[in-house]
Amino acid sequence: MRMVDIIAKKRDGHELTTAEIDFFIQGYTAGTIPDYQASALAMAIYFQDMTDRERADLTMAMVHSGETIDLSGIKGIKVDKHSTGGVGDTTTLVLAPLVAALDIPVAKMSGRGLGHTGGTTDKLDSIAGFQTEISKEDFIRLVNTDKVAVIGQTGNLTPADKKLYALRDVTGTVNSIPLIASSIMSKKIAAGSDAIVLDVKTGAGAFMKNIADAEQLAHAMVKIGNNVGRRTMAIISDMSQPLGYAIGNALEVKEAIDTLKGQGPADLHELVLTLGSQMVVLANGAKTLAEARERLEEVMHNGKAIEKFKVMLKNQGGDPSVVDHPEKLPEAKYKIDLPAKQTGYVAEIVADEVGVAAMQLGAGRATKEDNIDVAVGIIMHKKVGDHVETGESLLTIHTNREDINAIKQKLYENIKIADHAERIPLIYSVITE
Ligand code: URA
Ligand code: CA
Repeated sequence: MRMVDIIAKKRDGHELTTAEIDFFIQGYTAGTIPDYQASALAMAIYFQDMTDRERADLTMAMVHSGETIDLSGIKGIKVDKHSTGGVGDTTTLVLAPLVAALDIPVAKMSGRGLGHTGGTTDKLDSIAGFQTEISKEDFIRLVNTDKVAVIGQTGNLTPADKKLYALRDVTGTVNSIPLIASSIMSKKIAAGSDAIVLDVKTGAGAFMKNIADAEQLAHAMVKIGNNVGRRTMAIISDMSQPLGYAIGNALEVKEAIDTLKGQGPADLHELVLTLGSQMVVLANGAKTLAEARERLEEVMHNGKAIEKFKVMLKNQGGDPSVVDHPEKLPEAKYKIDLPAKQTGYVAEIVADEVGVAAMQLGAGRATKEDNIDVAVGIIMHKKVGDHVETGESLLTIHTNREDINAIKQKLYENIKIADHAERIPLIYSVITE
């Protein structure tokens, strides 16, 4: 087999065989196929697309390019949830203990944040002592005994995807549905869960800026998952404005605690129940979505969900007393309000720009090597559609630096106030096949 023939075949719009896709992924991972040939194939795929069979094959070839996590030692149906990334997206922190409180195993592998998007392991780092660098053995043991554990991305999972994603980034081939869908799904499948719930974001703060593109990506991922034997479904949710009110690591932990007690922001609460119900149904924990939602609401209100969060913290070395004493979480030195300059309705809160402002305060990373300050961030006081009066605080900046004029300016530019504004829907669609 020759790589040049595979490139030409795809360039001319033909379907690649399983063996050809395996040859490419194995050779590229091993370094016997050079970057220039891989980028030519990525560009051919960009223009010619892939069939459902090719997409499933590409995904599985990337899964087999490295280690996989074997969760078969955990009893029950393991469900994972994946978000395509957003600003102030605190859902994983809530969902993991919430679903586990119904005795459904949640084996969560989570990543760090980059750019305007946050990462779950960074949020957990704001809890003194909490360790996401645990062994696979401990991870499996904890999920078996207590139904929940969170592990940082470990080992050599999907090295083909790492290499190919980096190459796509510099060759204009990121924005291709078959390549994005196989990239995301390969990581989820290698992480070992039986069922996958996808939260595909749309809007300014998301990878997919419009609903049609988000739906196309969601359909592609759901199809791949189901074609390779993992029950998969997706929802499309809004990320044009930040989710909830808190943006920043310790601030989001506090928001997660409130939400686990049933006292969270309306949008975060609704998203958690929507995604959580799907997870519960996929795991056979309820027959209908309505029944699943009822069971989740029950554990929010009877205290079982927050108890499960405490157990999760304690199991991984964290201080569970932060749940009852959130003032023990790291706190920024200064709290600075941003007063509205006019009366009206909040018409837009540009999620990615607000995420960048939080990053500039120190809550996120501009590059992979940056350190973050878990105490800092932003607490919004308004959602799009809310009324605001001149002088009323739009948000509070939690910062350890005083020189934040440029950040304030950026926030003013990205929160628009108008005479009229509509509320933005939270959930656009649910995709099961
Ligand atoms: N996120 C991924 O993990 N892969 C892509 O290709 C795009 C976004
Ligand atoms: Ca939030």
